[in-house]
Amino acid sequence: MERRWWKEAVVYQIYPRSFMDSNGDGIGDLQGIMMKLDYLQTLGIDVVWLSPIYQSPNDDNGYDISDYCSVMSEFGTMADFERLLKALHERGMRLVMDLVVNHTSDEHEWFVESRSSKDNPKREYYIWRQGRNGQPPTNWESAFKGSVWEYDANTDEYYLHLFSKKQPDLNWENEAVRKEIYEMMKWWLDKGVDGFRMDVINLISKDPAFPDGYVYPGKQYGDGSPYIMNRSRSHEFLREMNREVLAHYDIMTVGEAPGVNPDQAKLYTGQKRNELQMVFQFEHVDLGGGSEGKWSDGSWKLTDLKHILTKWQKGLEDDGWNSLYWNNHDQPRAVSRFSDDGMYREVSAKMLATCLHMMQGTPYIYQGEELGMTNVAFHQLDEYRDIETINAYHELVYSRGWSHDQMMAAIHARGRDNARTPMQWNHSKHAGFTSGTPWIAVNPNYPQINAEDSINDPTSIFHYYRTLIGLRKKYSIVVYGRYDLLFPEDERIFAYTRTLGEEKLLVLCNFTADAADFSLSEEFIRKSVKLLISNYNQRDEDGINEAPLRPYECRVYHL
Ligand code: NOJ
Repeated sequence: MERRWWKEAVVYQIYPRSFMDSNGDGIGDLQGIMMKLDYLQTLGIDVVWLSPIYQSPNDDNGYDISDYCSVMSEFGTMADFERLLKALHERGMRLVMDLVVNHTSDEHEWFVESRSSKDNPKREYYIWRQGRNGQPPTNWESAFKGSVWEYDANTDEYYLHLFSKKQPDLNWENEAVRKEIYEMMKWWLDKGVDGFRMDVINLISKDPAFPDGYVYPGKQYGDGSPYIMNRSRSHEFLREMNREVLAHYDIMTVGEAPGVNPDQAKLYTGQKRNELQMVFQFEHVDLGGGSEGKWSDGSWKLTDLKHILTKWQKGLEDDGWNSLYWNNHDQPRAVSRFSDDGMYREVSAKMLATCLHMMQGTPYIYQGEELGMTNVAFHQLDEYRDIETINAYHELVYSRGWSHDQMMAAIHARGRDNARTPMQWNHSKHAGFTSGTPWIAVNPNYPQINAEDSINDPTSIFHYYRTLIGLRKKYSIVVYGRYDLLFPEDERIFAYTRTLGEEKLLVLCNFTADAADFSLSEEFIRKSVKLLISNYNQRDEDGINEAPLRPYECRVYHL
């Protein structure tokens, strides 16, 4: 297998708005990130992925960009950005930018022109269609509820927006659009950035026939996904982007790809395909979704989680490369979602980290995950800031008859603001995130969960992550070893091996609050073993098979 730096790296995602505020306006900023570089270096990460820092009216917190080549005023200046990039490079870390090019803000000058008249030269930068007898051109539903089409009286046409109506989709069929995007990417790469995380990049091509989507029972809108996701034309665009831009730089690329399966992922990331290096798949984080997707969150089984992650491990083991994540700015906190954010929070956060970081792929840590930060439960809708959450509340409660309590329970479990409450730095007011009033309230558990305490406690989750990252640096089997699942039917234990030549790793993770026994074959018992890491006090001499796994216990053996 080809060795590449981005396969060996650990990435840390910063959501700048919620990371660290240096000037007391309640909004995190670039100088705030500068203040925390020692922290990142101590953790041992290699790459920082910055969620969007570009000029934006913030309808979707920066995922609605109004100027790709300037920095959002709340976050600082281009000079701040350049200082940050330099400082990261001086410390041996790299910087990956978020690239949001499926859509722009409606306040981007391209769109302002595009909507001004039908014969404006920028008209075809976006996707405009006529209505059908006063109805939108298709019945597709937006990711943020309502129709994907917004009527514009000025020119009596509708424009497409897969997300909010302030996020019009760019028309990738237009070569001029693609050229502008490639030039902009080169501009950032020439500044020295080390790659891109590409927002919903598998949605850039739309079926030009714009067929109506299937309307599932109980739904008002149709499902447009078959006509916008993973179309072969997206691959053509990405190959062109690769040829024009990516191939000329030694960079990292990861494409966000909702609805992707491993076969499709191979098309995006296969070595000979010349598209991307990794994708973010959604299957494991979407587990348990019901008829209203994540809002009708149901239970999930460990065997399902194992099946999904194993399918991805095996699917990309010979070609392509996996991204590994539990968390990001769109997902609830990992301990709240996949393990226990109460009594077993510490031990189970370590278990989840182990389970993921010992797999094949590039691990991504989302800010605060290394502290075991948890979901938050605000009581009122006006305490929430996320457009997806607010729109879903409006639709499900006001139009569809859900009760406030039912919807709040769904938001507490799955809402995106769970990930967006400010980073918990210390015990002081607002967790040390800001001296002003934070744009979204801090999780009230910051006196118990914060970076300062974690750094001072050698047994903390933070230090455990450091050790895991250290293992990846020390043992190439952690990066390159082949993955094989053990005990596929077990609903308590997620166990697997990694194999590289004669070397083996054995990873055992108990996903329950009960003791879980297991029985390994002779192959493991005969060998001399070294315990590489565990979240309990376990010793090498304790013999692999002898004691059941304690609640949320994990162990990694080197054989
Ligand atoms: C995916 C991003 O991660 C999410 O935060 C955003 O709302 C949508 N794409 C639209 O840009």
